[in-house]
Amino acid sequence: MRNSKTPKLTIVGAGPGDAELITLKAIKALEKADVVLYDALVNEELLQYATNAEIVFVGKRFGCHAYTQDQINELIVSMANRHGHVVRLKGGDPFIFGRGSEEIDYVEQFGLETAIVPGISSALGVPASVGISLTQRQVAESFWVITGTTSNHELSKDVYLASKSAATVVILMGMHKLEEIISIYKENRTDDLPIAIIQNGTKNTEQKVVGTISSITKLVLEKKISSPAIIVIGEVVKNTSKLTSYFQEHFDDEFIFQNLNLE
Ligand SMILES: C[S@@+](CC[C@H](N)C(=O)[O-])C[C@H]1O[C@@H](n2cnc3c(N)ncnc32)[C@H](O)[C@@H]1O
Repeated sequence: MRNSKTPKLTIVGAGPGDAELITLKAIKALEKADVVLYDALVNEELLQYATNAEIVFVGKRFGCHAYTQDQINELIVSMANRHGHVVRLKGGDPFIFGRGSEEIDYVEQFGLETAIVPGISSALGVPASVGISLTQRQVAESFWVITGTTSNHELSKDVYLASKSAATVVILMGMHKLEEIISIYKENRTDDLPIAIIQNGTKNTEQKVVGTISSITKLVLEKKISSPAIIVIGEVVKNTSKLTSYFQEHFDDEFIFQNLNLE
């Protein structure tokens, strides 16, 4: 049955994990939602703001998709027609490897109004939260954000290009390709180039390792680091200053550079 409310989709970025790293605009959208469809990397604490909404998990857990992308697209349209305002809550920023633009393109064919609320991407927020400055004067003039796994399940060719530059490289969805990434860097750069890997960044389950191209594989095995994680490669990892007081307050686990011996 069609609802009298205007069918509308708002795509909302939930931030990297810490529930306080969502925007005020995102909270306001959740408060006004009739339906929330949320993904696996979203912090479920945020659902408390959606006081009047039907809430549906549409993400991937234990390697299985609750819904395919086509089913999610159709669900957005049918929910919006039935209930009104659908909020699509996605981890990080919806337009960074988040399929936000695909969902907007799909629903606009059905005449739905659309809006977007950007979020703090894990690509930026997670390195910052552990004190890694992606750009730094005299050290890195730019950074790349690359997917480790393309839609063909292959490592992005951009990793080869990026490894030849002095830029900081941030790789998402790269843990299954870590060996390949390391061998590219061994070919194109030095073995002592610093690298950090952070799993569940900004959450209380956060784990991180910092090492070099030659040492990181062993450290990852020792600390049992796995997905979801981001890989940060570049000299800025070495020059990282102390954690800010905000994050020290939130994370009293071992200081990331305690075991560093990069000098
Ligand atoms: C499908 S992408 C979505 C990225 C998201 N749209 C963003 O802007 O952060 C999922 C990947 O993001 C990275 N990721 C997301 N949240 C993370 C977190 N809290 N800590 C570490 N990596 C994270 C991981 O590489 C994960 O495999």
